[in-house]
Amino acid sequence: MNFKLEQEKRVSEIEEILRRYMPKEEGYYKTVTEAMNYSMMAGGKRIRPMLMLETFRLFGGRDNDILHPFMAAIEMIHTYSLVHDDLPAMDNDEFRRGRKTTHIAFGEAMAILAGDGLLTLAFETVARAYEHVNKSLDDSLTVYERIMKSYKILAMKAGINGMIGGQVIDIESEGKSINKDMLDTMYKLKTGGLIEASMMIGAILAGATAKEVDAIENIAGDIGLAFQIRDDILDVISSDKILGKPIHSDEKNFKSTYVTIMDIEQAKYEVEKVTDRARKAYESLPYENEYLEALIIELINRKK
Ligand code: IPE
Ligand code: IPE
Ligand code: MG
Ligand code: MG
Ligand code: MG
Repeated sequence: MNFKLEQEKRVSEIEEILRRYMPKEEGYYKTVTEAMNYSMMAGGKRIRPMLMLETFRLFGGRDNDILHPFMAAIEMIHTYSLVHDDLPAMDNDEFRRGRKTTHIAFGEAMAILAGDGLLTLAFETVARAYEHVNKSLDDSLTVYERIMKSYKILAMKAGINGMIGGQVIDIESEGKSINKDMLDTMYKLKTGGLIEASMMIGAILAGATAKEVDAIENIAGDIGLAFQIRDDILDVISSDKILGKPIHSDEKNFKSTYVTIMDIEQAKYEVEKVTDRARKAYESLPYENEYLEALIIELINRKK
């Protein structure tokens, strides 16, 4: 398998889906839709919808149309989290995804509203999954149940028991030294939350059992933790150009991160260790998805 080629194929497939669900730029409130599209279509790695799609495939999922609104929604929620994360009141960063952050390009008020717009559009979008349920099928009730379960998980993992909760710990920990246990909790929430939602929803919509969904939640939590530790490392060793966002943002904000509680080499080892734990749990599932496994490994040494 040519991983890079397969990845590019998936990114364009995902971006085609995103475009379908993004708002038209028209009417008296056109500015906010421009700001929403500006941040969404700037080009990110699209890791979350990709993990959702691949976990769906892992569990033998076939009815893709029901999955699509959820793939779009997770990327909307993720993008809104970045727009707000970059605001002066939070990390105060001026570059994102290789261009000026939304508040620099459109002003702070419009960036707040564009974030709010993306978050609410995400839930409007997933509510449209029902349009794809084939009512003539006997199992349509099961399909509705899967959609509702996914909806609930999306809301929970995006909220105080997920990404928002983690961002709160992040902000309140600025300038303080916190221990590894608290840092892990912060990371499992602020970054793990949306990654858990992505993979759990992929599994649920494909018809995985409750036990399998629990296993996926743990695997995804570790992938999220490793992903955030790698993000901390890249904040120190990478460049603005490669990352598309400013390096040394954490130092500027006096954040406690893995590279402040240990050195870079130790932090790299933690990424490997946590990923290995995820991989072992993944391998114990009685299913296979070659691309998903390669992706999990690829994330260890990602350059952006
Ligand atoms: C950045 O996420 C924020 C973190 C949770 C570390 P990504 O690294 O997935 O950003 P994009 O979507 O590729 O821009
Ligand atoms: C952000 O963590 C996690 C979110 C939920 C947005 P960071 O603040 O480290 O993300 P970057 O480095 O700005 O992308
Ligand atoms: Mg932040
Ligand atoms: Mg930030
Ligand atoms: Mg960061």
